[in-house]
Order: sequence, then C-alpha cells, then structure tokens
Amino acid sequence: MARRSLVVVANRLPVDEVVQSDGSIGWARSPGGLVSALHPVLRDRRSTWIGWAGGLDSTPYVPDSDGIRMRAVPLSEADYENYYEGYANSTLWPLYHDAVQTPAFHRRWWEAYVRVNRRFAQVTADYAEPDAMVWVQDYHLQLVPAMLRELRPDLRIGFFMHIPFPPTELFMQLPRRAELLRGILGADLVGFQTAAGADNFVRLVARLLGAQVDGRTVEIDGRTVRTDAFPISIDVGEMEDLGRNPDVIMRAKRLRADLGDPERVILGVDRLDYTKGIAHRLKAFRELLVDGYIKVQDTVMVQVAVPSRERVEQYKVLRDKVEREVGRINGEFSRVGVPAVHYLNQSFDRFELTALYLTADVMAVTPLRDGMNLVAKEYIAARVDNGGALMLSEFTGAAAELPESYLVNPHDLDGLKGTLMRALEAAPAENRARMRAMRKHVRSHDVRSWARSYLKALGQPPR
Ligand code: F6P
Repeated sequence: MARRSLVVVANRLPVDEVVQSDGSIGWARSPGGLVSALHPVLRDRRSTWIGWAGGLDSTPYVPDSDGIRMRAVPLSEADYENYYEGYANSTLWPLYHDAVQTPAFHRRWWEAYVRVNRRFAQVTADYAEPDAMVWVQDYHLQLVPAMLRELRPDLRIGFFMHIPFPPTELFMQLPRRAELLRGILGADLVGFQTAAGADNFVRLVARLLGAQVDGRTVEIDGRTVRTDAFPISIDVGEMEDLGRNPDVIMRAKRLRADLGDPERVILGVDRLDYTKGIAHRLKAFRELLVDGYIKVQDTVMVQVAVPSRERVEQYKVLRDKVEREVGRINGEFSRVGVPAVHYLNQSFDRFELTALYLTADVMAVTPLRDGMNLVAKEYIAARVDNGGALMLSEFTGAAAELPESYLVNPHDLDGLKGTLMRALEAAPAENRARMRAMRKHVRSHDVRSWARSYLKALGQPPR
C-alpha cells in the first residue's frame, strides 16, 4: 500500500519571509525547535505543512520548501492579540508551566481561540488528501483534532503536545476545561513529552469526562484514543557536523579570545521567557561572585536571551528584570574590557550557536518548567570532543533522559550555586564520562527516531 500522505498542522509555518539581495521577497527555513524537529521527516514524503505565515491580515502564497507544500492560514491583528498573545500565551502557556506566572482568563480570548482553531481545521479539511495522516502540533491548536474529525472522518489524526501537560490541580482552573479535553480527544493518538504529562491527561479525562481508562488508553464515545510519551529530540547528525566543522571550531577559539581568554565560560541560551529561570541563574552567578568562589578574571558568563513574544506584558516585565540584574552584576564586578556577564538579547544562527556551545565549559539550562528543552540536547550533540558539562533543571522533560547531567532544582539557590561549582570544578575525566554517556543517549534518540516512532504508532489501526 502506498504510504499515506502527511499533513502537519502547527501555529507557524516553518519558513520566514526574507528580503533577498535583489530586493525581492523570498522565504527561508526558520530557526527553532519544532521546525528543526519535523523538517527531516517531511522532506522524504508527500507532505503539506499548514500554519500561519507571520504577517497579519494577509494570506501570502508560500512556495514549496524542500518539496514540502506550504499552506498559509491567515491571522488578523485581533486574532494575533486574542488567540496568540492572549489565550495561547497568557492563559495556556503560564498555566501549563506550573503557573510560574499567573494565567489570565478572558472570554474574548477563548472565543478567538475557538475561531482560529476552526479556521485551521477547515484549511486542513480542504487540503488533506483522502485517508491522509494529519499531525496537529501543540497547545495553540488543542481544539483542532475534534473539529477536524467532524469535517473529515476519513483522516488519521494525531496530536502532539510540545509543552508540559499540567496536573489536575492546575488544569482545573481553566474555565472551558472539558471542551479543551474533548478537542484533544478528537485525535487517534495523543503524544506527550513525558510519561508524567500522559498520566496527567489520562487522569483528567477520567475525572472530568468520565471516560473509561485502561492504562494509557482512553475509551470515549465509542472510540479509542491512545496516549503515550514520545520525548522529542534534535537533528543530532547536523549538530555533530557543526561541532566538527573547522570553521565553527575556529570561531569558538576566536570567541574565547574575545571573552578575554577566561579559564571558564558559563553559557545560557534561552528564549527570553519567564519559564526559563534566567533570573535565578543570574542571581546564583552574582552570589558566587559576592562570596568570592569565582572571579571575573577567570570565569565569565554568556547569556543569550532570544527576543520572544515581546508585546506580552509578562515578557516586558521579565526583560526589565533580567536587564536590571545583568546591569547590577556588571556594575559591581566587571573590569574595564572584561564584563562579568555578556548579555546578548539577539537571535543567532546555528553556526554561531554551535561555536558558543563549543566555548562553554558549563552549559546552564535551568528552567522552572520546560516541556523538553532542545538546547540541552543540542549542546550535548555539538560536543563531539566530549568536553563541557551540562547543568540541567529537574523540571525539564530532558532531565528524565539525562541522569548524567548535573541535575538541579532551580528554586534552590544554594543548590544552584553548589551544583554550578561542582560542574565547574569536577575532574575533566568525570565530565568527559558524563558527556560521553549523554552523547550516547542523544545519538540513539534523535529527531528521526522520535518522528518515526510517533508516526508508526499513529499509522497502526485503532483497536
Ligand atoms: O515550545 C513551544 C513553542 O511554541 C515552540 O514551538 C516555538 O519554537 C517556541 O515555543 C516559540 O514560540 P512562538 O511561536 O510563540 O515564537
């Protein structure tokens, strides 16, 4: 039988509009987790990606990219404000991340979420070939599976949640909680990053909808919905190639020289998001300077904070907080020509990021909650030299897979300081052994195996 065609439905298309050298408009593959994750899987089969192209009030024609058909879903300014910035990123995002910031609930946001989810479902129903597999991505589109099933019962529908799925106590705060669960349950297979997320979901559907549950399988309205953990990963080969690339290695040496040739470099690479624990990390670094455990002459910190969701109030507040803290540390501890913290509120391409990874003696990944954290996996894959050390928050999905990292509770400031010092001062042989073990894991669990195992499970006939 011919392989079914595949449709990915995600909030964003995997391409960005760029102005080319001759002034004309073109499209280039976007950086970022989800895109890198799915790209290699789609490239090799008949596939379509449905998503928002980035502009407002327009539906641009987006050309095929690497043989993947692109179909744009339009968003208006009001949709962007109420669906994307509002319901997705000011209600669901904070709530699903342990409510580390207070989620806000507004009925007009919910209405926009329903409206936009319906639009995504309709565009998908219009474009999907008969019997196609449709893979709906993430928290922006939780109502799409059920809406799509109504429009196109012939499709095999999957849903994958990239962010954490919260425990009952938190989810119960949502005003339209049962409708959200019913939306997801339109899928044949619901994937989560961790076993804990799948278990939270199954517990909730039993409690709120009275569904029959057998292990991770749900029976509802005469249908069977399977759920499971599928921890996402990265294109390991691509990162390893970059890690071996002589130009990247040269660039890393140059970066180290530009940093003043310190003995030790601590690196953070995050979207500027309040879930990432950037302020906690900076505070730990400052206290270590105050206590005299580290000196700027021999230890510097580089913090890349990629701009994100900049119009949302909580993100503006975070930026002020982080920049105040960086200013304070640099004011107190920098020397002329040698800042204590190199703060970069910019995005970098993969070449430069990999050079930074190769420069980092300790990579500090300390989110307060994170679905997976692909930066941690990229760092490991790039360290083909088995150098460096990873300090990793227990509250990331990645922590479940990487017990050889320096695991830490980012809320425990003394723990954070102690763990950072341990990672900095460990014998090189210990850090190499840890890195080797983590590289082995990541190499055998790359993004292709993630996508293959998900799609294989989705392709299996429902029981
Ligand atoms: O992890 C969730 C996610 O939506 C990713 O898919 C994406 O790369 C990242 O957050 C940035 O999100 P946004 O689309 O809001 O810029």
